[in-house]
Amino acid sequence: MKRVAVLTSGGDSPGMNAATRAVVRTGVSRGFEMFGVRRGYAGLMDGDLVPLGARDVGGIIHQGGTVLGTSRCEEFKTVAGQHKALAELRSRDLSALIVIGGNGSQAGAHALAAQGLPVVGIASTIDNDLVGTDVSIGTTTALDTALDAIDRLRVTAASHQRAFLVEVMGRHCGYLALMAAIAGGAEAVVVPEVPTDPESVALQLRSARQRGKSHAIVVVAEGSKLGAEELARYFREHGERLGFDLRVSRLGHIQRGGAPGAYDRLLATRFGAAAIERLDAGEHGILIGLHGSEVKGTPLSEIVDRSRPLDMRLLDLANVLAA
Ligand code: ADP
Ligand code: F6P
Repeated sequence: MKRVAVLTSGGDSPGMNAATRAVVRTGVSRGFEMFGVRRGYAGLMDGDLVPLGARDVGGIIHQGGTVLGTSRCEEFKTVAGQHKALAELRSRDLSALIVIGGNGSQAGAHALAAQGLPVVGIASTIDNDLVGTDVSIGTTTALDTALDAIDRLRVTAASHQRAFLVEVMGRHCGYLALMAAIAGGAEAVVVPEVPTDPESVALQLRSARQRGKSHAIVVVAEGSKLGAEELARYFREHGERLGFDLRVSRLGHIQRGGAPGAYDRLLATRFGAAAIERLDAGEHGILIGLHGSEVKGTPLSEIVDRSRPLDMRLLDLANVLAA
């Protein structure tokens, strides 16, 4: 009988639990013995594993975070750390691993696969920076959370005739910021993929004021050269007349919390089931992701050390719609 381990790694994202549940229950339905690894790669190196049956993953599909726990683990990036993890798996007779996580976690999965372990990755990160999937587990819920905050900030911005610089997460990727800007009706957006001159943001704000806007929202991706605080400092130090009183709001980890919405629960469930199906069919060394409406596998070797490019047409659209 196949003994398979599953772990969640890197930044938690809403829907990780739904993916864990689907992995375990699909595995059990195919006669696999399933194990959960606590605390991601750190727990794998420590041999911190628990057997998981269908009942053990009950009541978690709607919960944010990850019941398995997660970690960022520097030691695992070393070959010695990876050997430690492989030895723990071998000593328990575990023959395969499923890795639910983002870009870094899938680089770790690829490192283990390159050393002969059958591994299947599941795309899960709020950043949506993974290639090999149109969308990752957690991205849509995080976006909804950011939008809820932006909608609220707009209310107070309008009452006070203010501009808000709203900083959203995304690490080095501007996806969350751009989508939040379009869906939140922002007046400007700043992303890492496009070098942004603070003067041009000031110009956009002044122009919005002259066009009769009573308030403004600028969505700033945290990975941009200048974050929201730095932009605000620049405007203060250069005495920029923006036409609005200015405030900053950094949404931060708020975006990672919260219950997964319907989209992420379903995506995670499809990804989790597909990971086991592929493994059962003898396919591994792949990342499970969404391509159009199809769940597909992409070789991990094709997705590591890459980042999903931003659709520049959507950036143009955001600017057009800020009219
Ligand atoms: P995410 O998976 O959300 O992008 P991280 O980038 O922090 O989060 O990666 C999660 C973990 O994956 C890291 O703490 C580390 O243990 C492992 N990891 C990241 N990059 C590599 C790599 N190049 N090789 C091996 N393991 C890696
Ligand atoms: O990868 C998810 C993410 O939330 C990024 O958007 C952010 O840059 C990072 O994790 C924050 O990491 P930490 O939780 O370790 O502060």
